[in-house]
Parts: sequence; C-alpha cells; structure tokens
Amino acid sequence: MTRCPGAEQHPIPPAVQEAYGPADLSSMSLFGGGFINFGYWQGIELDQPLTEHDRISSQQAMYRHVLGTLAPTGGLRALEVGCGLGVGAAVALDEYGFAGVTGMDIHPQQLERAGQVNAALLARRPEQLRFVAGAAEDMPFGDGEFDCLYSVEAAQHFRDLGAFARETARVLRPGGRAVVASFFVPGADPAGIGRLAELLDTFATGLDVAHTIPSLVSGLEQAGLAEVRATSIGASVWPGWDRWLAGIWEPGSWPRNFLRAFREGILDYFTVTAERPAA
Ligand SMILES: C[S@@+](CC[C@H](N)C(=O)[O-])C[C@H]1O[C@@H](n2cnc3c(N)ncnc32)[C@H](O)[C@@H]1O
Repeated sequence: MTRCPGAEQHPIPPAVQEAYGPADLSSMSLFGGGFINFGYWQGIELDQPLTEHDRISSQQAMYRHVLGTLAPTGGLRALEVGCGLGVGAAVALDEYGFAGVTGMDIHPQQLERAGQVNAALLARRPEQLRFVAGAAEDMPFGDGEFDCLYSVEAAQHFRDLGAFARETARVLRPGGRAVVASFFVPGADPAGIGRLAELLDTFATGLDVAHTIPSLVSGLEQAGLAEVRATSIGASVWPGWDRWLAGIWEPGSWPRNFLRAFREGILDYFTVTAERPAA
C-alpha cells in the first residue's frame, strides 16, 4: 500500500502530547544540546565530575553509534523516525555523507523546534534536510523511498510495534537497512513488565510502553525484513546516565531507577538492525 504526503494525521497519545508539548523534555537538565536520549558513554571518563559538554557528547555519541551500524556510503537517502529537535538528523547529514535526511516526528511542537534549531542548516542545504509530520505506525511516504531508516530512543513511545515494522519494510527500498535504538524488555516475562511500572513512572503513566525485544524482532521478521539482530548496549548507557544524574536526583527517584531496572534484568538498551532483502 503506497501512502502519500498530506494523509490524515495519526492520533498522538496524550502522555506523548504532554511530554513533548508544554513539558518540553528537551529543556530539562537531564538532557541538553537539543537531544533527548540517555547517551552512549563509551570513552567518557565517569570517575571525574561530568560536565554539560560530556552530557551533550554522550547524546551525539549515541547517534554516531547508531549511524555507524548502518555503515552508510555517500548518496543514500535516510529517514529518521522520532527525530525530536532534529539535532541528530543534522549529525547524520554533516558526518555520514547522506544525499538527504528526512526527520519525521509525530509531535507538531517538536517539528517547530526542529525548524528553529536547524534554521541555518535548512537555509544552507534546503534540498538535503527536511522535517515532516508523521507517525512511526503510519508513515507519509511512498514505497521504497529510503535507503536507510534509523530511530533513536523513540520506539518506547510507539503504540504498535507491528505497524512500525510493516511501515519500515514498506518505505525501505529492496536492499535498504534499518536500525532502531531504544530501551526494551529483554525477555517476555510478564512479571518483569509489571515491576517496570512500579519502578518507573513513565511506564506507569503510559508515556513509555514495555515492548519486548522478542516482539520487536519477530515483528520485523514478519514484516519481511531479514538479518534481524538485537545487540545489548546497556553497559555503555545506564552507568553513564546514572552517573550524570547522581548530583541532581536522589537514589530511588524516577530516572535513577533505570539503572536499577537494568541491574534487575528487566530493562536494557538495544540496537536492533534489519535489512529489506534485495528484490
Ligand atoms: C525521547 S525523544 C528522542 C528524540 C531524538 N531521537 C533524540 O534522541 O534526541 C522521542 C521522540 O519521538 C517522538 N515520537 C513519539 N511517538 C512517536 C510516533 N509514534 N511516531 C513518530 N514519532 C514519535 C516524540 O514526539 C519525540 O520527539
């Protein structure tokens, strides 16, 4: 099924509407630099006091790690799903030689912010960077429009991972590659899923959804994608994230319980890569 730009707007879940609307998560000191991810902390010295610069570098490094798994070569067209303020899309365009990068997000206020934050780059390279409203489950693009698709810390918000997997397979050209990075439940144990809502307010309120890695992997395979591989990167995420928070948030508070959930084995951070088989 081909989808066209201008199709009806997909509904935004209320918790997502609030977090990325008036609450503007990107403005919290948890994040910084326009990014909203927990960071990839390899190569950052965690035994010394961390600076704002370290925090921003960790989030850029998350993008570099994710984009590096795509091994892009020049000339490819990339789609970012859940681009937020678009600062990661700017990294992709500046550093990875894409012919063009499309940042897509469900939230109109995030897209407004992305337009403001990247105004200079958009003016300089108007043919190569664009920000588009759309949902992971219902993408406003034609079949086979992209060579690569990537998504950083957005999939925990998607309501329907199966629909996201089908849309990923549809918008990628044959031979195209995808990588999804976010936090997921490693196994399929329902007890662990219940415990997450006790520990982490964002699961209790419905901002985050406890998707399991087996369900994401099987969804991508059922959508026709091949070479689906899930790799844990939690050891490079959670200790650094918690170290950053230690000066600001008490142990036992919401963001500090992520490391606890990781240590209890009920949540981890993954990259999941997949390919659309060549025709
Ligand atoms: C945690 S932020 C991550 C932003 C960016 N990727 C980064 O790492 O800085 C998650 C983003 O996903 C977007 N989002 C949530 N649900 C979505 C959906 N179903 N489809 C597309 N975007 C979605 C939110 O509006 C938000 O901008």
